[in-house]
Amino acid sequence: NYYAIIMAGGIGSRFWPISRTSHPKQFIDILGTGKTLIQNTYDRFLKVCPKENIYVVTNDIYTDLVKAQLPDMADQQILTEPVMRNTAPCVAYGCFKIESLNPDAAIVVAPSDHLILNETAFIAAIEKSLEAASKNDLLITLGIQPSRPDTGYGYIQYTSNTLHNDFHKVKTFTEKPTLEIAKTFIQSGDFLWNAGIFVWSAKSIVKAFAQHLPDMNEIFAEARPVYNTGSEKSHINKAYLQCTNISIDYGIMEKADNVYVLPSEFGWSDLGTWASIYELAEKDYVGNAVIPSEKVIMYDSSNCMVNVPEEKLVILQGLHDFIVVESNNTLLICPRDQEQNVKKVVADVKQKF
Ligand code: GDD
Ligand code: MG
Repeated sequence: NYYAIIMAGGIGSRFWPISRTSHPKQFIDILGTGKTLIQNTYDRFLKVCPKENIYVVTNDIYTDLVKAQLPDMADQQILTEPVMRNTAPCVAYGCFKIESLNPDAAIVVAPSDHLILNETAFIAAIEKSLEAASKNDLLITLGIQPSRPDTGYGYIQYTSNTLHNDFHKVKTFTEKPTLEIAKTFIQSGDFLWNAGIFVWSAKSIVKAFAQHLPDMNEIFAEARPVYNTGSEKSHINKAYLQCTNISIDYGIMEKADNVYVLPSEFGWSDLGTWASIYELAEKDYVGNAVIPSEKVIMYDSSNCMVNVPEEKLVILQGLHDFIVVESNNTLLICPRDQEQNVKKVVADVKQKF
């Protein structure tokens, strides 16, 4: 009765120009491991449930990428969206469909673009959560010990009130706080980052939609008769146009009162910025991280993050603490401490080109 849903319809704009609307981060081998992030995600879930129970929810424009990168996945397990409406509709589509096929399902919902170094610990945490969610009406999220006041995450304040000593009752869930608030959270010490990986029974999440996003509940409940039929796609295409644009974090996790967190440690990184890649990448003795490295030549340069096409000959002279990234005939050169601005720059550039 265990199922997995991989969310793979986002754009990942902070990784520009490697990550672009036409080819986002989850479809890239961003660390040079030989597999893309979504392939690694799929492989991890193969150890948790049978492959027939793994679903991907993505945008129409990425269907071919998913098929090419996950050739083992049957077409009816690739759920496609006609428009981007953030993660709440994505979760609703996947979970309502699974619920209509198997009302006793327990489901793990996960992003497609994260790095997990300790797979054994990850699988243990997921299995423990799936078991708890099968037997109780809970919305479980995995929590990570925070290391900085990052404003890109959800923050979970948890209580000492536990279930089986493992799952802590969540007191507050705050999605993407301001820097000021994030700082107070970090100082107080009783907050975790939301890893964005959720576990619940099909019944519990359907109930949560009915309670907190009733319009979306109606839209996907109404579709029950068409799931796994020839008219699923055309029905869903119309249904999506009626969905509000909201993430599962704002739409449900911040509001529900049956949220529990499993504090976890499995070498997690959401690879959200070039800095996070730099942190993880192999570096030479002066701190340069170069992927791939054969044709990049550096003189008197240190602490640079270089990611360029394999065939490109690149020479750096006297450059320190920079990001140099080229992809699709687009070159980004940016001091490492200004990378947060990349998101803004991309928005601006997109208007012009
Ligand atoms: N199918 C589909 N459709 N997938 C989507 C969509 C969509 O419209 N939008 C985003 N996704 C996918 C992304 O590809 C990614 O794998 C996952 O859903 C999460 O979306 P992000 O856009 O990356 O969310 P985030 O990083 O801003 O925030 C979430 O993750 C953080 C941890 O990395 C939240 O859950 C935060 O609370 C959490 O801390
Ligand atoms: Mg993310």
